[in-house]
Amino acid sequence: MSAQAQPTLLLDSRPETSEFLDDVCQGLSRQPKRLSSKYFYDSEGSKLFERICEQPEYYLTRSELTIMREHVGAMADCLGSEVLLMEFGSGSGQKTRLLLEALQAPVAYVPVEISHTALLDSVAGLAKDFPRLDMLPVCADFTQTFQTPLSRIPARRTVVYFPGSTLGNFESNHALRLLRQMRDIMGCHGGALIGIDLKKDSSLLEAAYNDAAGVTAAFTLNMLAHFNRELGADFHPGQFRHYAHYNALAGRIETYIVSTVEQKVHLDGETFSFAADEALLVEYSYKYSSQGFASLAAEAGLKVEHVWLDPAQYFSVQYLVPTST
Ligand code: AVJ
Repeated sequence: MSAQAQPTLLLDSRPETSEFLDDVCQGLSRQPKRLSSKYFYDSEGSKLFERICEQPEYYLTRSELTIMREHVGAMADCLGSEVLLMEFGSGSGQKTRLLLEALQAPVAYVPVEISHTALLDSVAGLAKDFPRLDMLPVCADFTQTFQTPLSRIPARRTVVYFPGSTLGNFESNHALRLLRQMRDIMGCHGGALIGIDLKKDSSLLEAAYNDAAGVTAAFTLNMLAHFNRELGADFHPGQFRHYAHYNALAGRIETYIVSTVEQKVHLDGETFSFAADEALLVEYSYKYSSQGFASLAAEAGLKVEHVWLDPAQYFSVQYLVPTST
């Protein structure tokens, strides 16, 4: 590819394959076994996630889009002009597009995304429609430290955008660490716009993670196929099943991959044994009350300046700013 055909400079802080392998081996060695939900998202997993968002039971994406369509003007007023928008993760770009369209003279868009293809797709999709916007993609795991690129035009404010209730995938100490990292990135005058799923009737929550068409089950089990493709593991995805339930005490959906038989799996010269019915924890999806989220934010030195809700009050988009000291 010629230098001219490369439209955007890519900051690449991708983790090494050996790190990926070590982490998976370590997770499979634990008792009980557990792996990070970030391993759902290879290209097949990202496609399956897009299909989850279309399922009638999965209200999260629809509710958040309803909020964005209804309130994006008010959000843009809140954020002000000449914003550098940094997004943690990059989805289909639908919500980001709404936000960028509403913002007044945004200076740069900085998606931070672990999947190289997802990152380039999102930038390619947005670059066409926002030709004057500085596109500064960063290929990195946003839970780790990464280099922050500088925009050509200095921004008046850095805003971290973290939609989709992805923060819900992190246990409170990790969520806190992420919020503090956002606080550091935004500085004294910035903000964070975060999508947070709210507590609600457990039957609605459990249905959202157990859609009738079985797309969520396919998404969950794709993690094993991902390990087979990427790490040369020999999982038989047909001998495992998806299981998701709401733990009301902890305020979270817990998703497991359950072995339906006694079996052994090989990875990197190691053997991992599964008992029949043994469960491998692969995801938490925390649900917050408005109060609960506000106190978490406060612990990170942030205060909730605005909360926008959908009419059913299933979901929230919250604008956080640094607590004045
Ligand atoms: C995109 C991480 C927020 O936890 O609801 C959807 C992922 N997992 N169905 C969520 C997911 C199962 C989703 N997040």
